[in-house]
Amino acid sequence: MLFRNLSIENSKELYDIRVTDGRFDKIGSGIEPMPGEEVKDYGGKLALPPFVESHVHLDTCLTAGQPRWNMSGTLFEGIERWEERKETLTREDVRERVNKVIRMQAANGVQYVRTHVDINDPDLTALQEILELREEVRDFIDIQIVAFPQYGILSYPDGRNLLEKALQMGADVAGAIPHFEFTREYSVESLNICFELAQKYNKLIDVHCDEIDDEASRGLETVAARAYETGMKDMVTASHTTAMHSYNNAYMIRLMRLLKLSEMNFVANPCVNMHLGGRVDTYPKRRSLTRVKELTAEGCNVSFGNDDVFDPWNPMGNGAMRDAVFMGLYAGHMLGYEEIMNSYKFVTTNAARTLHLGDAYGIREGNDANFIVMDASDYYDALNNDAKVLASYRKGAVIAETVPAKTEVKF
Ligand code: FE2
Repeated sequence: MLFRNLSIENSKELYDIRVTDGRFDKIGSGIEPMPGEEVKDYGGKLALPPFVESHVHLDTCLTAGQPRWNMSGTLFEGIERWEERKETLTREDVRERVNKVIRMQAANGVQYVRTHVDINDPDLTALQEILELREEVRDFIDIQIVAFPQYGILSYPDGRNLLEKALQMGADVAGAIPHFEFTREYSVESLNICFELAQKYNKLIDVHCDEIDDEASRGLETVAARAYETGMKDMVTASHTTAMHSYNNAYMIRLMRLLKLSEMNFVANPCVNMHLGGRVDTYPKRRSLTRVKELTAEGCNVSFGNDDVFDPWNPMGNGAMRDAVFMGLYAGHMLGYEEIMNSYKFVTTNAARTLHLGDAYGIREGNDANFIVMDASDYYDALNNDAKVLASYRKGAVIAETVPAKTEVKF
């Protein structure tokens, strides 16, 4: 099949893409169709590699208001509300919600998802179900599972064993939550355990790190030091790191050297952290977004995630990556022309690096023909006009398509 006239990642020149046996066979200008070949002419629309959701909690999605709403809008009340909702958790309940939300994501061009799954549950209910679902939907969406100890590794009964069991059962990534551990000592030790288990089972690492407006929350320096010393480097990700917003600049300069040495990845979740952060401030109220602009300028890999889709932490969300980019650019003071044009990378190539997808990700000859086409000429246009994903292709086959609504102004 031949796809014609696509702007690939904002290219000025339009390209044609031939897909053969589910792979990008040929990419170039002016490729003529072969006799009988099916042709789809996109007339200059934007093609991107599929969106990558690098941080979401599928197990908590679509539970906002159950059994009660988070009235304070804080992270910690969110954890309390989730604790109540978790009492009624069943595998059927998880299956129904996750099936729904991954289709919402697919409709919006997402084909790769890193989900954190709460493993502070003696029955590991959500984990069991999502491990099964991961295999069932593999042809349509790649799900990477983080064993996420929501209440801590050392501050929750049997936390260490639950983490190890989750990794043995097939979770892809080891998690930790140092800022939620009871003490500073537990915080450091929990990270040591996380690294030890990740190395034992050859897993990636993604830590919920310093998601708090406490400038004394310094789990990140330990994560970065271990990433560097163990050589795990880009296999390691620090999510949120919102305390970095509050760090003093003298400390930040020292820390940045280590962050660069560590080669680790960062995930910011702009919408939810703008919502949850600054809640103990009067005025001025902090933004609680990690230093996206500075990390990016220093060459660190940063991606954006949604974290939540309509759950106790964020009562909004539809699974699309656009809101994360939009909020991230505004809150991060990143609305320069080039910053806007390149911002798709936060939810495509940068996010793919975080997930360690390697060279198999991206629109290039030889790769699986996974790509999306947006109803826009470039990403500036797409972001500004909230363009729909016209089609999401997986190995050359359409897995989701949208016909944009038509509006007529009557004057
Ligand atoms: Fe999270």
